Formats: sequence, structure tokens, C-alpha cells
Amino acid sequence: MDAFDESRVFDVARVRADFPILSRCFGKLPLVYFDNGASVQKPMVVVEALSRYYREAHANIHRGVHRLSEEATAAFEEARRRVGRFINARETRECIFTRGTTESINLVAASWGAENLRAGDEILLTEMEHHANIVPWQQVAARTGASVRVVPVAPSGELQAGVWRELLSSRTRLVAVAHASNVLGTINPVREIVEAAHAVGALVLVDAAQSVAHFPVDVQELGADFLVFSSHKVFGPTGIGVLFGRAELLNAMPPYQCGGDMVLEVDFEGTTFREIPERFEAGTPNIADAIAFGEALDYVAALHPGARAHEAFLLDEATRRLGAIPGLRIIGTAGQKVPVISFLLGDIHPLDVGTMLDADGIAVRTGHHCAMPLMKALGVRGTVRASFAFYNTVEEISRLVVSLERIRKMFGQ
Ligand code: ALA
Repeated sequence: MDAFDESRVFDVARVRADFPILSRCFGKLPLVYFDNGASVQKPMVVVEALSRYYREAHANIHRGVHRLSEEATAAFEEARRRVGRFINARETRECIFTRGTTESINLVAASWGAENLRAGDEILLTEMEHHANIVPWQQVAARTGASVRVVPVAPSGELQAGVWRELLSSRTRLVAVAHASNVLGTINPVREIVEAAHAVGALVLVDAAQSVAHFPVDVQELGADFLVFSSHKVFGPTGIGVLFGRAELLNAMPPYQCGGDMVLEVDFEGTTFREIPERFEAGTPNIADAIAFGEALDYVAALHPGARAHEAFLLDEATRRLGAIPGLRIIGTAGQKVPVISFLLGDIHPLDVGTMLDADGIAVRTGHHCAMPLMKALGVRGTVRASFAFYNTVEEISRLVVSLERIRKMFGQ
């Protein structure tokens, strides 16, 4: 490839200036942050939104008659509108604030699952799911007598062609599937899965934790019944995320947690509950982080589609250059991927590779990536994972390549 001018499609230098942490050095080594699949860094608009809220506008929401409370309530509900716009929800109230992807899935499993699943029903998962999209379903299956079925993954890291269709039947009540795999990067054919699931009367929960940061996700276009994601993987703060659900489904579900703000009338003889979104937001919510999350979503949305083109370029470049390192095996070669590369370097333990990369100032994730069933299916104990964001550069990929070559030689591979 001839010299590619990154600035032609996307001004990386300008974007990097929004993220002060990217200028950090460890000794003389500038940080190379390739652990974006675990959590992305935060732009100044998000840091400032948090600080401004606590400096100028904090009060409890939905409860006060005073102006500060009204301002905080308005900002919190504006954040919900931003979430709704970001995923193109039909109605803002279909967006429930939770602590993140994990809590959103637990909410659906505990509430919808416990209410609707019976012995003989099936929940269809895939082998590439994160533990957060496996264990809650196992738990509710054990309580209700439903069973969990699993779509296998092909060596390319894609769902085995046709098998997910064969596993769908009138017994299937719910399909829970990752939009993109946190280990393999594979983007799953969610729209086709939704169509086929709906044809047999099943609902679909989409785990969008690894997709929302990389391309626009439209719940109406996907036809998702539920869709979940975390703020911290899409440039917002930790400790907050979203459960999107179709209004008629959410309003028919029993509450998940009970307390203030989600009730209409409380009496020792019985309690009545509010409709969504408050129905699922018991207690004082994470107001500041919701507001900063809304800022993050607007920030990301404004960078599409240039960011996407830049990430595709980084993924191609890294795949080509890592693939040329002798003994390096890339795990996950699907045609459609988010910018994630899992790999093994000869027979060097992934933890050793990660530790030595860290010594060179390069942050990656190593291990099973909270996907032990996938590791088992792939026949590996773990991998090294480099995951990119739009603020990464080709120069950083060069540093990774140089460092991996050094490690390979050091281990005599
Ligand atoms: N689920 C996150 C990851 O893949 C933490 O690293």
C-alpha cells in the first residue's frame, strides 16, 4: 500500500487532542492504548460535563419543586433523549438507564425471563457470547425449566452458516446474541437473525456493547426487541448503560428492583408501579454519569462516518502487518469485523506477551476475555487482544509490530 494520508478521511491529530490521557508517557514511552474493547478513553466534553454538573447543577431529580432539581431533571431526561436518538428508538421512554450491559441483561433475564419462560422453552445463545450474556440465561433457565441452546462458531470466527437457522424452532422464546464479538471482532448478521427469530415467535436481545462505538446502531432497522450497551465503551463514564426494549414488552414486565420513583401508590395492602422508564429505575439514579453519557453519544455521532473509515483502515493495516510476523496466529478472520485483533504469538503465553508489551508502553488485554466457552471451542486458554478506537494511529500499530518482533526473538520463536 502506498503512503496513506490518514488526515484525508479523518483528522486523527485533532481528535486525539480531545483525549488528554492519550498524551501520557510511562517514563519516556508515550502510551499506546489498544485496550479499547475493555473500555475507551474519555474526551474532554465528557470530563467537563461531569465536572460542570457537580459544580453547577446537582440536585436529586423527579422529586424537587426547586429550580435546581428541575434543571437536573431536565438534563437527565435530555440525556435519555440523546440515547434514544443515538439508537433511533421509536420512543424515548424505551431507553432505561442501568449500570451497564451486564445489569441490562440481568434485568431482562430476571424480569422477562422469570415471567415468560416455562419448562420446554429454549433460549438460543452463541458460542461467542460474553459471560454476561450467558450466565444470567443459565440462571433463569435453571429456575424455570427452560434450556439453553448454543450456536457454534466456525474456525473463521463467524457463526456456523445455517446452524443458527436450524436451531430456531417454535420452542425458542428468546435469542440473545452479540452484535460484535469482544474476542473475535466478528459482526453478526443480527438483522437476519431477528427476522428468522420473529418468524418462529421468538424475541431477540442484542448485546451491542462492542458495536456501538464503531458504527451507527439502529434498533428499528435491526428490529431488536431488546438492545443493551454500556456508556464506558462508547466514550462515556463507567457505571451507566442502557436497556432498550420495545415499550409494550417493558411495560408488561414485572419490576426488577423496587424502591422510590418507580411506584404509583404504596400501601401495606399492595403497591402499584409506574410505567417505563421509571418502572425500571428504582432509587436515585446515576444522574451525573447519565448526563455525561449523553454528551459522549453526541460526540461520537458527530464523528461518523470518518471515524469508521479510519478504524477500517487501522484494522486492515494491523491485520496485514501482524499477519506477516512469523508464528503469529490471528484468531477471528470474519469478513465483517469491528477493529479487534485477537492473536497468539508462537507458543508464548498471552500473559507474557501482554506484560512485555506493557513494558514497551502498549496496553492490550490478555486472557479469556470473559468468554471461556469460546476459548474452549477455539481450543485455546486465552489470547492477546489489541482493540482499536478512532483515536489510534498507524504509528502506534508500527510500535506494536516492533515490540512483538522483539518479544518473539527474546523467546527464541
Ligand atoms: N467486556 C470487556 C472486554 O471485552 C471488559 O474486555
